[in-house]
Amino acid sequence: MLFLVLKIVHVVGNVMWLGGGAAAAFTFVLLAREDPKTRLAAAQALRKIMLRLVSPGMSISLTAGLIMLLMFWGDLYAKAPWMHAKLTVGLIAAGFSGVLSGRLRRAAAGTEVTPGAIKLAGAVLVFSAIANVAFVFLRFGQH
Ligand code: HEM
Repeated sequence: MLFLVLKIVHVVGNVMWLGGGAAAAFTFVLLAREDPKTRLAAAQALRKIMLRLVSPGMSISLTAGLIMLLMFWGDLYAKAPWMHAKLTVGLIAAGFSGVLSGRLRRAAAGTEVTPGAIKLAGAVLVFSAIANVAFVFLRFGQH
C-alpha cells in the first residue's frame, strides 16, 4: 500500500517537474523573439512557475523515488540494469532542470539570456521522461 502511494506521488511529481519544466522552457523560447518588455514579463512569470510547480515537483519525485529505491534496493534494484539507467537519466534531468532554473532566474532579473540552453534543457526533460517511462515498463536486463 505504501509502495503504491509512493508510486502515485512519484509519477505526479514527474508530471509537475518534467511536464512543467518542458512547458516553461519552450514558452520562453517562443517569447524570446518578442520585444524586451514582453521577454522580461515572460521570464518573470516562468520563473514563478519554476519555483511553484517545477522545483517542488522535482523534490516530490526524487523523494518518493528514493524512498521506494531504499525500500527494495537489495531485493529488486541493486542488480537491475534498467534501474541504474533510470537513475542516470534522472540525474541528467535534475542537472538540466538546474540549468533551466538558473537561466530563467537570470532572465527574470533582466540579464540577456540566449534561448539555446533553455531549448536544450526542455528537450532533455522531454526525452528523459520518455526514456524513464520506457525503462520501468520494459525492465531490460532483469532476470
Ligand atoms: C526522469 C525522471 C523519472 C521518471 C520519468 C520516472 C518515472 C517512473 C514511472 C513511470 C514509474 C512506474 C510507476 C508504475 O509502476 O506505474 C517509476 C517507478 C519508480 N521510480 Fe521513477 N522516474 C524517474 C526518476 C526516478 C528516480 C531519480 C528514482 C530514484 C531516486 C526513481 C525511482 C523509482 C522507483 C524505485 C520506482 C518503482 C519501480 C518498480 O515498479 O519496481 N525514479 N518511475
